[in-house]
Amino acid sequence: MASIDPFWDKIAAKYEASSAGNIGPNFAARVERAATLFGPRARVLDVGCASGEIPLALAKHVAAIHGIDVSPKLVEFARGKAKQRGIANASFESGDVIGASLAEESFDGITVFAVFHLVEDPAKLLHRLYTLLRPGGHMISETPCLADRSWIFGPIIKLAQWVGKAPRIVTRLHLTDVEEMIREAGFEILESKRYNSKNDQQSITARRPQGTSSNVS
Ligand SMILES: C[S@@+](CC[C@H](N)C(=O)[O-])C[C@H]1O[C@@H](n2cnc3c(N)ncnc32)[C@H](O)[C@@H]1O
Repeated sequence: MASIDPFWDKIAAKYEASSAGNIGPNFAARVERAATLFGPRARVLDVGCASGEIPLALAKHVAAIHGIDVSPKLVEFARGKAKQRGIANASFESGDVIGASLAEESFDGITVFAVFHLVEDPAKLLHRLYTLLRPGGHMISETPCLADRSWIFGPIIKLAQWVGKAPRIVTRLHLTDVEEMIREAGFEILESKRYNSKNDQQSITARRPQGTSSNVS
C-alpha cells in the first residue's frame, strides 16, 4: 500500500472552513441522485468522504452510511458533525480504502467523488470497490477528467504540487480511461454524464452485475 499523503491532513481545517466542508456546486443534486439510486434500505460506503458533508446529507435517505478517508483530521471533523447533528446511522474511519478491514460484498451502494485521479492505482481501487459491493449493487463516481481539458492544467498542477497546494498524486485522466477502468474492474456502466457545466466532474453510475463473484482478476 502506498504511504499516506500528509497533504489532506495539512489542509483539513481550511477545507472544513471553506463552505462547511467544500461541498462543491452540485452537492444537492449529487445527494439526490445517490439517494434515489440506492434507496432507504441501502448500506452505503462513501470513499474519500473528507469532512463528511456528503455522507451526512445522504444518511437520512439510506439505512446506514460509512465514510472512509485517508486524513484522520478530516474524519475527526466528520465524526464531530455527526455527533453534533445527531446523525446516528453515519460512521467514519480513517485509512486507505484499499487496506481497510471492510467486509467483501457488505455494501449496497458506493459513492466515490473526486478520488480516482488522486490515487496511485485507480484500477486497483476500482477492483477493491467491486469486491466491497454486493452483486447488483451500484457505484456512483465523479471524476475530473483533466486530460480532456486544456494542456495548461499539466503545468498548473505541477506548480501547485511544488508549492504544496496540491496533493502528491494528481493524474490527468481521459474520460475514456476512467470508463475503461470501471468496465475492466467488472462493472457495467449505466450512465456517464457531466451534469453541471460549472463543475468539471464526469458522473458515472455503474453496477456490479448480479451473480458475479469477487474473484475477478
Ligand atoms: C478532492 S477530495 C473529495 C472529497 C469529497 N468526496 C467531495 O467530493 O467533496 C478527495 C478526498 O479523497 C481522500 N482520499 C484520497 N485517497 C484516498 C484513499 N485511497 N482512500 C480513502 N480516501 C482517500 C482525500 O483524503 C480527500 O479527502
